[in-house]
Amino acid sequence: MTIFFFTASGNSLKVSKAFITSDCVSISSELRKSPGSYTDDKIGFIFPSYFYGIPRPVLKFIRRSDFNSSYFFTIITCGSTSGATSLQLQNELKKKGISLNYAVEITTINNYVPMFDINKEIYTQSKKNIESILPAAVHDIRASVNRIPSFGFTAKFSHAIAQIIYKRMLDKCDNNLYIDDKCNLCGTCALVCPVDNISVTGSINFNQKCESCFACLHNCPQKAIHHKKEKSSSRYREKSISLNDIIESNNI
Ligand SMILES: Cc1cc2nc3c(=O)[nH]c(=O)nc-3n(C[C@H](O)[C@H](O)[C@H](O)COP(=O)(O)O)c2cc1C
Ligand code: SF4
Ligand code: SF4
Repeated sequence: MTIFFFTASGNSLKVSKAFITSDCVSISSELRKSPGSYTDDKIGFIFPSYFYGIPRPVLKFIRRSDFNSSYFFTIITCGSTSGATSLQLQNELKKKGISLNYAVEITTINNYVPMFDINKEIYTQSKKNIESILPAAVHDIRASVNRIPSFGFTAKFSHAIAQIIYKRMLDKCDNNLYIDDKCNLCGTCALVCPVDNISVTGSINFNQKCESCFACLHNCPQKAIHHKKEKSSSRYREKSISLNDIIESNNI
């Protein structure tokens, strides 16, 4: 089994690691190489939902790669709902002649700081379904269960609207980030950025290709990176995931 994952604050990495004996392959690492062709008995995609859809780097990776397997699955992590994200993946794979066999969304801490206060997210963590759903999803996938959710008009419509907002937001997300004077130029933010958007020399520079994943903001040891509209200065990384795990995922 091969799992392709994308993560900023560790939720999707935690889910990927639940498949203990599988190959977990970082999508951001693969994107630094030439396009590849991948074959395995099972192939999975584990990533966060962004604006009810697939994060742009994940979409880029899927579009440029070849996959060969008899069983494809996805687990989408999100704060409350991934909308029709799995339908978007189903449609993308269909263009390659691939059928998705299994899809499930898992709710966990919402790391989107312009809309969610991490303190409140942690306070209401018991309402998230990750602990109850994840073992069942791992079991289903190991047993090659076929299960795809269906989506009505409202989910498809919400996905379409949210994706318009997502694309507009991506154009200006670099400019929404700023650094405060706690920064000690340690360089961690550059190491966790999945798209090499940060350079640290005498100061921090964002290179205008931000994907708004917030890996830098959540993993800065000094909590020195801010979003202009953040709901609080609290930061989040999944507790079972270390800073080194994020660096290894996004920088290698
Ligand atoms: C740009 C962005 C957009 C997001 N959009 C959604 C969304 O549409 N629905 C949702 O429930 N959570 C949304 N979230 C929250 C993440 O999907 C969620 O926190 C996810 O588990 C983060 O995964 P990671 O820790 O692996 O990075 C969004 C987060 C970001 C950064
Ligand atoms: S991780 Fe934080 S402290 Fe380190 S260089 Fe980046 S902004 Fe500065
Ligand atoms: S600059 Fe920060 S928010 Fe933007 S892509 Fe890099 S890590 Fe993610």
